[in-house]
Amino acid sequence: MTNKILSQINPSLQKLVPYEPGKPIEELAREYGFSPSQIIKLASNENPLGPSPLALNALTKYLRQIHLYPDGNGYYLKKALASHLDIGVENIVIGNGSNEIIELLFHVFAMSDEDEVLFSKYAFAVYKLMAELFGVRFKEVEDCAFNHDLKAILNAISPKTKLIFIANPNNPTGTRVPNEELYEFLDKVPGEVVVALDEAYIDFVADPPQTLSFVKQKENIVILRTFSKMYGLAGLRIGYGVASKSVCCFLERARQPFNTNSLAQLAARASLEDNQHKLSTLKITEEGKKRLEEAFCQLGLRFIPSSANFILVHVGDGDFIFHELLKKGIIIRPMKSYGLAEWIRITIGTADQLSRLLEELPMALYSLKNIKSK
Ligand SMILES: Cc1ncc(COP(=O)(O)O)c(C=O)c1O
Repeated sequence: MTNKILSQINPSLQKLVPYEPGKPIEELAREYGFSPSQIIKLASNENPLGPSPLALNALTKYLRQIHLYPDGNGYYLKKALASHLDIGVENIVIGNGSNEIIELLFHVFAMSDEDEVLFSKYAFAVYKLMAELFGVRFKEVEDCAFNHDLKAILNAISPKTKLIFIANPNNPTGTRVPNEELYEFLDKVPGEVVVALDEAYIDFVADPPQTLSFVKQKENIVILRTFSKMYGLAGLRIGYGVASKSVCCFLERARQPFNTNSLAQLAARASLEDNQHKLSTLKITEEGKKRLEEAFCQLGLRFIPSSANFILVHVGDGDFIFHELLKKGIIIRPMKSYGLAEWIRITIGTADQLSRLLEELPMALYSLKNIKSK
């Protein structure tokens, strides 16, 4: 690019390191000559059971109407969510994935490069990415053995602090904040500082915190949720935020007129009704987690006990293991971009997927050991 054009480009973008997503199945198929059906992806915390049959049915019925614009306001999905969560429709904003709600929060609350955003070390990568994109300062607060240190986050609040992100459970660590600790924290955060509680994985938690009741009392709490994980709709891109009516009004103003599509809205509505799909997902997640933990213990690998549908595990050289498994048609997530080059993150798959992984992982570790000993 010529310097003339480069000088016109937003300086924040010039510095920005793009998000590294899980490797797509089609990409691995192209690169290694696999057929997509031979590949298993345990890299992006998707639901290995796929979407709910109720969602698939709703989608099939609607396909002939996709020439029509969606309801930009997502009226029926909001209504379904309001009844599901026992809150008002005016407390809900629908987003193109919960990532969009994260972006909307920056549109609404990050005004100048003096503003500061706080999140924990090893928090979900998109918070930092958005802070960089919007040109606001951010502080990554030291964590405590892969757990959010809420006291340290409270201490880090300054008059410049606009937004705090708390992912609970967090990605990529999988750790959660004890409910009482979270309640105490929410009570102590000054009313002018917005706390975004990212609950992308909350459906996997047996005793989730009662955060919705905080939204009913406090204007500075925003909850973020998604249909990408438990509900198996990651490809459709749909999530939502829950906040006070006034905050929702501004989040709505900041969004694109048709930010979520009709198919995504419909599938999300149908998925909410499928409790069986949720129970089956919880069952395979719990069984798979136990199996992986036992296997890691046998292999002498350190892992972080997880409250979500993935596990962070120490393998010595994450990139090496990632590439070894790719050769076998298995996609996991190396963690170098998080500053955790010795770790990988594995999504809990079906029993068959985990069998394949556990067959290949010891070989990959063995190759690593051989290379290191040379
Ligand atoms: C903690 C966390 N928040 C938000 C998201 C974004 O999810 P989506 O945009 O698919 O709703 C993810 C996705 O991996 C996540 O791990």
